[in-house]
Amino acid sequence: MFYLCTSIFIPNLVEKETIYILAIESSCDDTSAAVLCNDKVISNVVSTQKIHEEYGGVVPELASRAHQQNIVPVVHQALLRANIDKKQLSAIAFTRGPGLMGSLLVGTSFAKSLALGLDVPLIEVNHMQAHILAHFIVTEKNTKPEFPFLAMTISGGHTQIVRVNDFFDMEILGQTLDDAVGEAFDKSAKILGLPYPGGPLVDKFAQLGNPKKFPFPKPKVDGLNFSFSGLKTSILYFIQRETKTNPNFKEENLNDICASIQYTIINILMDKLKKAVKETGIRHVAIGGGVSANSGIRSALKNTEKKYGWSTYIPKFEYCTDNAAMIGIVGYHKYKQKAFASQDITAKARYIIQ
Ligand code: KG4
Ligand code: ZN
Repeated sequence: MFYLCTSIFIPNLVEKETIYILAIESSCDDTSAAVLCNDKVISNVVSTQKIHEEYGGVVPELASRAHQQNIVPVVHQALLRANIDKKQLSAIAFTRGPGLMGSLLVGTSFAKSLALGLDVPLIEVNHMQAHILAHFIVTEKNTKPEFPFLAMTISGGHTQIVRVNDFFDMEILGQTLDDAVGEAFDKSAKILGLPYPGGPLVDKFAQLGNPKKFPFPKPKVDGLNFSFSGLKTSILYFIQRETKTNPNFKEENLNDICASIQYTIINILMDKLKKAVKETGIRHVAIGGGVSANSGIRSALKNTEKKYGWSTYIPKFEYCTDNAAMIGIVGYHKYKQKAFASQDITAKARYIIQ
């Protein structure tokens, strides 16, 4: 999608600066680059590494090698599609963490070199903060959440409920104590013999099945924290038990099993979200991260608008899974605050949001 981005005139007729940010994301297995003109995305290129499929999960060493191969063509494509020259860039934003160290290093080194070469500011971005602030990308339809709001970030590496007071004032209210929700989807899919990443496939088959056919237990976890490792184990034992009496059990019941797994996961997430709303009194609720692409969680969240009077914010599909556009929107807001990084900055595999 291309937007025409011209300078904006504010009421006193003083011309507001047009900011072009090149953003780079390489925290896991997607190499992505985007160009933003202020808070609008003018290009967003994502190259998903297929190599991990045959291993049933992300292999860190292979991921960093693939980033090295992809980064130049992906950035080149992003600039080409945005139809701008790199000399027009105002700043370079990059994912500093959290993520896989080898993967982060590729994006970090590339961004630092490019910023140095072009003599433009460098902006470091926290990946999880970006999943939340993706809601501030201006699109034709979206409404931005009002501060304060609650954000549930659900991805392959994280599951958190965050109180968002302002762009850069966030507080983690709860998080997973073991597996992330994306892992719960992917590992369940693996048990069912589905390829990696299995989350989208579970979603697809779930839409054809009966969600109440096979009840799975929900974990009892204090406060606003989550746990998904017990669910994975109970799915494994269930499948092993049923396969003993019927070797074709998985194949014959795939839709119902997927629907039941998805139903259980969504209930776990929604129970905690309702608890968070009750405890904070905040009824503006957003979701972000790869699992927010899930059709079940999207409709469960939407239903709360009528049922409980919540205002909900669901990202466009392309801004759910890892992408550089979300890094760019954080870059834009940091640029306005002149929050620039220095050249001695390093990648951070564990990087907690504040
Ligand atoms: O945010 P993301 O792209 O990468 C991380 O930062 O982890 O999230 C990837 C995760 C994977 O576990 C993938 O299976 C899951 O998001 N995912 C889904 C769906 N689409 C992606 N899970 C369930 N349903 C989906 N439709
Ligand atoms: Zn992510």
